[in-house]
Amino acid sequence: MEDWYHDAVFYELYIRAYQDSNGDGQGDFRGAIARLDHIKSLGVNCIWIMPHYASPLLDGGYDISDYRDVHPDFGTLADFKAFLDAAHARGLRVITDMVMNHTSDQHPWFQAARQDKNSPYRDYYVWSDTGTEYAETRIIFLDVEKSNWTYDEVAGQYFWHRFYSSQPDLNYDNPKVHEEMFDIMRFWLDMGIDGFRVDAIPYLYEREGTNCENLPETHDFLQKMRRMVDSEYPGTLLIAEANQWPEDLLPYFGTPENPEFQVCFHFPIMPRLYQALRAQDKTPIVEIWAQTPAIPSGTQWMTFLRNHDELTLEMVTPEVRQWMWEQYAPEPRMRLNLGIRRRLAPLLDFNGEKWFLLHALFLSLPGTPIVYYGDEIGMADNIWLPDRHGCRTPMQWDASKNAGFSDANETYLPVNDDYHQRNVAVQEDDPNSYLNRLRFLLQTRQSQPALRRGDFEFVETGNGAVLAFRRFVSDQLAVSGEQLAMSDGHSVRGQWVLCVFNLSDVVQQVGLAVAGGYQDLLHPDSLPLVGDMLNVPPHAAWWLVKT
Ligand code: GLC
Repeated sequence: MEDWYHDAVFYELYIRAYQDSNGDGQGDFRGAIARLDHIKSLGVNCIWIMPHYASPLLDGGYDISDYRDVHPDFGTLADFKAFLDAAHARGLRVITDMVMNHTSDQHPWFQAARQDKNSPYRDYYVWSDTGTEYAETRIIFLDVEKSNWTYDEVAGQYFWHRFYSSQPDLNYDNPKVHEEMFDIMRFWLDMGIDGFRVDAIPYLYEREGTNCENLPETHDFLQKMRRMVDSEYPGTLLIAEANQWPEDLLPYFGTPENPEFQVCFHFPIMPRLYQALRAQDKTPIVEIWAQTPAIPSGTQWMTFLRNHDELTLEMVTPEVRQWMWEQYAPEPRMRLNLGIRRRLAPLLDFNGEKWFLLHALFLSLPGTPIVYYGDEIGMADNIWLPDRHGCRTPMQWDASKNAGFSDANETYLPVNDDYHQRNVAVQEDDPNSYLNRLRFLLQTRQSQPALRRGDFEFVETGNGAVLAFRRFVSDQLAVSGEQLAMSDGHSVRGQWVLCVFNLSDVVQQVGLAVAGGYQDLLHPDSLPLVGDMLNVPPHAAWWLVKT
């Protein structure tokens, strides 16, 4: 089905971290194949693999030196293909990361470009004699980089880079770069992948007098990319990584006539979920939805709680950022650039009730959810490691050597100390573990068409600590071929779900009329709720349907 992504749950997989099959201390595709049943068991439908290409790995593989090969530590092209086939055999789709904005400085294009002014590759990159252009452009990795220009001795010029200076930006004013990128996409699509998460797309073009983000030229290129994909590989999914405000995100969906991406990450909502929980106040969530524009039919948001990067605070005000740092990153080493380099469970102090509430909230908001590897067992972070490495440590499978990740004496990053207690095997046997509760939440969500595809409206509770909204399937909407009986607006189970969250740590009274009795899907054994005034227990999360 063309728009399968509306009904899917995604899983973000770091091959390097998942399972080592050959004892070199690095995860690889062969190892990951052996763990596909775990991924499947979560109830997810699609895997996004972080960059698996040849790379010096100075930025987690987002610095590619050969787009047509697998990093030798992770396996071979044949291993990749075997992984893809094994995932498909289990009904799991696979998308890969497409890093378009820049290459590694080790890429042969850059090596040729810097060595010879007359090389055809010189114009694949962005050069300057002075390094003073585009001065209004912010620096993203500002803990490390002082400028977006770096002088290259060999080239005798400055080159432009939005990320590390080992990642020169490609020059999209050169149409040859477009064709190179399209050929790379064709290469992987020919192998049978289902789409791409396209990295760092706001930054493709530079223009004097602008902040060099979200430029019209960038949108023209992205439309061209979509036209290529739609005509040559129809049905391919493109997901946009654009860490921008909602009004700047909207154009990345394009228009029905000139589409760009089917799915965009909703960056601004993410920190506000944590903010609302800590402040015990729903306002940040309500406000950001008010600012979130309606999106074209057939497109979808992607929602997430964490990923492989720092928890970004780029899309909040400086005051909120400061407050979030104080609340969630009290130690300086927990901070990075404009974010927080910690994992999900430790951000919540491993508090199971808050964990459940935050997941129930995130999984009932509009959008296709994605879960970051390791978060399904509430993995901890290691703030003593540099950069974002502390959130990218080996997956913890069991209590054996290196958590079952590898039998090497040294792994690519140290395994977290707590793996004896915190691992998949232990959690399999515990019905209340993160792992089993996440499975339950995903299964429950997926059983409700309204939670997957429904419309969204806030429901007034008269209480700032209690967030409530309704997800509902409108009359016209046919859901995944399931024709729901629409005649009576409120009588079919699954047609709508009333979601209620007490963000505070005390009982809250709310005026919500639940005449006739409502059943909570998240606590199926509890008695139905009836009445006009409800007492909502601390940190309660309810998904209510009519009994
Ligand atoms: C994206 C990736 C991040 C990477 C950056 C540069 O933001 O998520 O990990 O460092 O792009 O490629």
